[in-house]
Amino acid sequence: MCVYEITGGRPLAGQLTVQGAKNSVLPILAAAVLADGESVIHNCPNLSDVSATLDILRLLGCRVAREGDTVRIDASTLGDSRIPDQLMGEMRSSVVFLGALLARCGGAELSYPGGCELGPRPIDLHLTALRALGAEVREEGGHLLCRSGRGMAGRELCLSIPSVGATENAILAACGCPGLTTIVGAAREPEIEDLQAFLRSMGGQVEGAGTSVVRVLGGKRLHPAEHTVIGDRMAAATYLCAVGAAGGCVCLKGVESGCLTAVLSVLKEAGADVQGEGDTLSIACAAPLCGVRTVRTAPHPGFPTDAQAPLMAAMSCGTGTTMFVENMFLNRYRHVGELARMGADIQVDGRVAVVTGRPLHAAQVRGTDLRGSAALVVAALGAQGKSQVSGVRHILRGYQSLDGDLRALGAQIEKKELPAGTH
Ligand code: EPZ
Repeated sequence: MCVYEITGGRPLAGQLTVQGAKNSVLPILAAAVLADGESVIHNCPNLSDVSATLDILRLLGCRVAREGDTVRIDASTLGDSRIPDQLMGEMRSSVVFLGALLARCGGAELSYPGGCELGPRPIDLHLTALRALGAEVREEGGHLLCRSGRGMAGRELCLSIPSVGATENAILAACGCPGLTTIVGAAREPEIEDLQAFLRSMGGQVEGAGTSVVRVLGGKRLHPAEHTVIGDRMAAATYLCAVGAAGGCVCLKGVESGCLTAVLSVLKEAGADVQGEGDTLSIACAAPLCGVRTVRTAPHPGFPTDAQAPLMAAMSCGTGTTMFVENMFLNRYRHVGELARMGADIQVDGRVAVVTGRPLHAAQVRGTDLRGSAALVVAALGAQGKSQVSGVRHILRGYQSLDGDLRALGAQIEKKELPAGTH
């Protein structure tokens, strides 16, 4: 079993270029199947979720090659539209292949994406959107069988929740629908703007991403394109929270500061000196963070749910009281019990968690989901003593080199391989 050993209490310092965005590159890799040729994607992070997506592309018949952070996908050899259960199980966000495969080859078959550590992860909005465009979607024995049918055509469709994945699936499917599709109630995340940029470079006529109304004029074949993925704002938020926990002064490059306004605002209110200019973020913390008003997670541009756990970890080793309200997922406080093992004072009641900051001590803690595991690393950086964080495999889904990046900022963190059966 792989763990991180972290000796906390040392302030961080230095500069870091943040990895490409996981939640942008995944739909962009799926979108590559829309072109009958080779697309080139730069700033593609080396993550297990990305590797799983590349495996799906290969199984669909695409030729895939990786050279550093550049990935080449030749979808001219695409010959299948079925995603095997095992790969679907590895990563529920593979559901975004539905829209891409419907658009490219008029059909798709994949197993129902299961729930995940964050609780139930329904896809009803995805299926409603695809059906609204004319797709025939059958659910049989845990499998989704989708056919474009004869009636696929652009239409107006409305999302009752600004779901990121459902918005991406609708945009991709609409690329294969002749006529105008208007998606009302679309998610506004920057990753959707990045998907739009890639599709436009492929000749797609997509506009409005970043707003709640996205329009797609679909029906024509797209051509391959070259694209550079935006920086990962959630990785950046994690590093900012790490400085909040451990103190110090750090500069992050490669992420547009406008993508993290809500996070920067909370950190400023908590006493950090935060500056954001273009693609450079800097943070200085000379004292522990102090409690702020309520932090409510919400769709973009609200406070991002993916930053909730790392911020909670930083607030746990600060001073004062902060109330968190997790509005996006039902089970996104799994890190609370582990933070409590480090001495954190966090009272949870349903969607509400009240954090009262205090000095934390080292402990052996176990991560059980991507952002919750990263939060335990953040807390360990602010705790006195040597902590051990397990669940590294969750972290590798979304962080290219969390330990390497933090070491570059002066953290004392090492990856250790423990003998099998060690608890
Ligand atoms: C994306 O997940 C991100 N993942 C998540 O990041 C992120 O937390 C989430 O958006 C919210 O910002 C990727 O982009 C790969 P949603 P997604 O559909 O698309 C409900 C991380 O840590 N819903 O916007 O699955 C859903 O249950 C991950 O990097 C329905 O009810 O999220 C949730 O409560 C975790 N029906 C809310 O909408 C649906 O059909 C928002 O989910 C779809 C969603």
